[in-house]
Amino acid sequence: MTLGDSVLKRFVTFAAAAALLAACSPQKPAQPAGPQLAAEAKLNTDLPMNELMGHVVDPAAFTYWAGSGTEETAKGVRDLSPTTEEGWEKLESAAAALIEAGNSLQLPGRARKLPDHPDSDWYQHAQKLSALGVIAKAAAAKHDKDAVFKAGADIYTECTACHAEYIIEPQLKATGPAKGNPLPDWPADVKARQQSYTAK
Ligand code: HEC
Repeated sequence: MTLGDSVLKRFVTFAAAAALLAACSPQKPAQPAGPQLAAEAKLNTDLPMNELMGHVVDPAAFTYWAGSGTEETAKGVRDLSPTTEEGWEKLESAAAALIEAGNSLQLPGRARKLPDHPDSDWYQHAQKLSALGVIAKAAAAKHDKDAVFKAGADIYTECTACHAEYIIEPQLKATGPAKGNPLPDWPADVKARQQSYTAK
């Protein structure tokens, strides 16, 4: 093989690989009207969805929920609202992280696709999360306990709405509903006590 041949061959292989890569690269989602990605920007979206959820979205949401509402204890009802400036600040930070999480969920390649739902559903869920984060942050900034509780509940509703569409529904379609009782039965002594209560 001449030198020319091998260079050409390598070039052809490279060109084929590039074409393949282009075909595999995730489709850019429809850009919402607004700022375009700068040419210099380089996004790192290596974090898989379960880790984005588990390490970013979930801790932020739990931090917010931990500072809202009340808890019933043996000693009575305990208010979970922050009592210090730092405590309220922590809720604001958690809400800010949720605003940004909504953005992260819309980065190229992140959106999940479903065969029987419009692609826009994913973006709407992500945008709702950011919008609720804005409300949640403002509520914490005002130290408004009731508004913080409501914002936390609305965030929870949105988490479960996206999960219902993108996790539960596809799973049910794939495997059908759980067969039998999905939970183990109560231990015999607990069951006996339950029966004695209902008998009264
Ligand atoms: C835009 C849709 C969307 C929204 C909104 C969303 N999630 Fe998720 N979430 C997902 C998807 C998709 C998965 C499944 C990831 C996978 O396939 O492993 C997931 C998985 C998770 C998991 C499981 C992670 C693991 O380790 O398997 C947790 C926990 C979670 N989400 C928490 C939340 C919380 C809390 C919120 C609300 C604050 C939220 N998510 C909002 C789409 C969403």
